[in-house]
Amino acid sequence: MFEKAAKMFSEFIKDNFDISDEKIKHKVIHTYNVVKMAEYISKDLDLSEEDRTLSRIVALLHDIGRFSQSKEFGSFREDQKNIDHASLGVKILFEDNMIRAFVKENTYDLIIKTAIANHSKYELNTQGMTEKEILHSKLIRDADKMDSFRARTVDDIYTMANIAEEEIENSLITDKIYNDFMSKKTILSKDRRTGIDIWISYIAFIFDINYKSGLKYIKEKITLTN
Ligand SMILES: [Fe+2]
Repeated sequence: MFEKAAKMFSEFIKDNFDISDEKIKHKVIHTYNVVKMAEYISKDLDLSEEDRTLSRIVALLHDIGRFSQSKEFGSFREDQKNIDHASLGVKILFEDNMIRAFVKENTYDLIIKTAIANHSKYELNTQGMTEKEILHSKLIRDADKMDSFRARTVDDIYTMANIAEEEIENSLITDKIYNDFMSKKTILSKDRRTGIDIWISYIAFIFDINYKSGLKYIKEKITLTN
């Protein structure tokens, strides 16, 4: 099931986007790495074969809205300035029914939809969700953040967030951001005012990791090189 989805995904990207574009390239690398992270957590949690596959499919499709967003708006920064990429992904997959190109059976639709819809929300509200929906929502949130930590150590800041390095270096931390960080809270995007606020908001992702394997991975495998 995953192989078919992966084949279709790579065709979808090739047919619709310019993979020589740096932003697209980064997003493709991110997607495949999140698949690996999902596998890493699934193994660690000793999930069933079905859930392992499902977690990789969710990972593969979780940012599908980002690709379209970048094409239309030329930027990945600030969902609130254009459209929420998670909702856009849900629209593309489930309203335009593109999910069937990736996954033949509809058995897992609700789980995939719920996990993608919630992957980038500030907080995960599990009310009304089934156990499987909670599992896959938590898992993709962790896998996504795990790869964000990798990306921050290797990718160019400007490409990632449309922000110049000087804009970070020459800025001061806003009080609200400082206080939230010191209280071990994740940062609300709309509270960020300066370049350094944005950078700190990335680090604060560490306060919202659900599974121990995620923390372990970040601690052991992520080395700051620059
Ligand atoms: Fe992502």
